[in-house]
Amino acid sequence: MCNISEEYKMTETVVTVGLGERSYPIRISSGLLEKIGIDLHERNIGAKYGVISDDRVAALYGSRFMQSLNAAGIRAELITFPSGEASKHLQTVAALSSELAQRGFDRKDALIALGGGVTGDITGFLASIYLRGIPFVQVPTTLLSQVDSSVGGKTGVDIPEGKNLVGTFYQPKAVYIDLDVLQTLPVDELRGGLAEVIKYGVIHDAEFFAFLEQNREAIFALNQDVLVRLIARCCEIKAWVVEQDEREGGLRRILNFGHTIGHAVEAASGFRLIHGYAVAIGMCAAAELAVRTGCLAAEEAERICRLVAAYGLPTTIPADLDQEAIRKYLLTDKKTVGGRVFYVLPERIGAVKITDQVCEEDVNAVLLNAYHLA
Ligand code: GLY
Repeated sequence: MCNISEEYKMTETVVTVGLGERSYPIRISSGLLEKIGIDLHERNIGAKYGVISDDRVAALYGSRFMQSLNAAGIRAELITFPSGEASKHLQTVAALSSELAQRGFDRKDALIALGGGVTGDITGFLASIYLRGIPFVQVPTTLLSQVDSSVGGKTGVDIPEGKNLVGTFYQPKAVYIDLDVLQTLPVDELRGGLAEVIKYGVIHDAEFFAFLEQNREAIFALNQDVLVRLIARCCEIKAWVVEQDEREGGLRRILNFGHTIGHAVEAASGFRLIHGYAVAIGMCAAAELAVRTGCLAAEEAERICRLVAAYGLPTTIPADLDQEAIRKYLLTDKKTVGGRVFYVLPERIGAVKITDQVCEEDVNAVLLNAYHLA
């Protein structure tokens, strides 16, 4: 019989995503990787677990994680795929499905996504369609997946026509965020995740934005108290949005702040630009667009770009990217509805609006790097 230790209960922070009977906890603490087995044992999510991970994360954490699951009496098998966005396609899902079938996974079993955004998106999608749906849990190992993609139930894969064009909304049964895994995260990826963190401050929480202004050094030093507060606040905001608009009919679009122009820039770079870096550029562009359209004060836009720059993120579109390509991608983005491009524009730090009322001249001026730091 496994009981959750008092120490575990005391040291973790829990955020709940409230979706009625599909509600789930996001557990945040250090040393969590070793304790997940105990929780899974208590919650009885699956009879047996398929742990899906890429080969890079599996090399770092796979055996430790599997040992801790086994020690808690959990039956689990590790299944890996090659790391990288290039794996995020239907063939990987087909190969993993065959692997699960050959290993005898049935409807009583469940999946665990151990890895970053690609692993979470693939595993969630696989869980939503394998045997018409089996439970899964998220164990995100990058800051970006901890504060964004592991929460909220978006799953999917890329097709040659675009990123994330095939997918489902399918909520996990739990999200386990271990702070310790950030120790092995390359600094570029940490910065990329911090772009999404800044996003939450701009869209919903001016106080959190100020916290980010004041705690940069502690964040890069991976101070545990600061990280818990940071990750928990992002998850709270994401939960608040998803609880009101799970399937992106309206409010959830605010999470796309920085992503409209950001995605176009990312695609025009042939996906060489890290996603978070493209979002950083997109947030500065959206802030400048907001100033041009008269909904944001110039000083506020400057404050946003200053924070982006302070976190070592780019604020302007790289000069070698083709403006025409960016414009083309803007029009073909999956967030475009009926030929209308929707922008998420800040009205002040802590509040944004969603609009398709942006004229082409303003967009063109912003794309021509009209935005700058004073
Ligand atoms: N990453 C944006 C969303 O989950 O809606």
